[in-house]
Amino acid sequence: MGLGKLLHQHTEHADAGGVLNRPRAYELFGAIAFLGGRRAAFTRVAAAARPRAGDQVLDVGCGTGYLSRILAPVVTPSGHVTGLDPAPEMIDYATRNAPGNCTYVHGEGQRLPFPDGSFDLVISSLAVHHIPVEARPQALRQMVRVLRPGGRLLIAEFRPPANRLARHVIGALSGPAMRHDPRDLLGTMIPDAGFTVESEGDLPYLLYYVRARRP
Ligand SMILES: C[S@@+](CC[C@H](N)C(=O)[O-])C[C@H]1O[C@@H](n2cnc3c(N)ncnc32)[C@H](O)[C@@H]1O
Repeated sequence: MGLGKLLHQHTEHADAGGVLNRPRAYELFGAIAFLGGRRAAFTRVAAAARPRAGDQVLDVGCGTGYLSRILAPVVTPSGHVTGLDPAPEMIDYATRNAPGNCTYVHGEGQRLPFPDGSFDLVISSLAVHHIPVEARPQALRQMVRVLRPGGRLLIAEFRPPANRLARHVIGALSGPAMRHDPRDLLGTMIPDAGFTVESEGDLPYLLYYVRARRP
């Protein structure tokens, strides 16, 4: 059985990861896939976003809320983290486990239900490859829209291992959505949406990030 079947009941888009609606299975997968290093990996992702006390943060494709729970104490006392995911099961799970300054909202990255300029920081980890291919540019444009001028974006995605056999095994287990090099996956979508890219590169645990800013 592929990873996809374990984590969601159906997918409408063979070339995208789709909506995941099994939060407990996802948490188990996260614990196993990062070989016990999930917290360290996501702490690095959070640090790459350079969150500040007081930030209003949006986590697009928040899943179970794991990353937003890491960010929440960093932005206290006045900061807030809003997580968004299309799976009601993920939103329920995240809400049940939410710190006081986190809230979770049902929705899609390509149709963000927030006013213009509402956030200081938009972060999206391992979620762009889940958005349908044709909706990804629109999702990036929505992220620009909901950021205030000068606001920051942090996208984190998987990067395939350098080792060919390991790449093959991961591709076979995960399906097509996780086989792409993140540089190909993201292409020029981030600058095309109106962001200025400030930094990008590899992180530990087979992760890759792009940090950008709304001019
Ligand atoms: C691999 S999980 C990542 C969850 C979390 N960000 C993390 O890093 O653990 C991808 C998430 O993207 C969500 N997703 C799927 N389609 C989406 C869309 N169109 N917009 C936003 N999120 C989406 C899935 O439901 C899933 O929870």
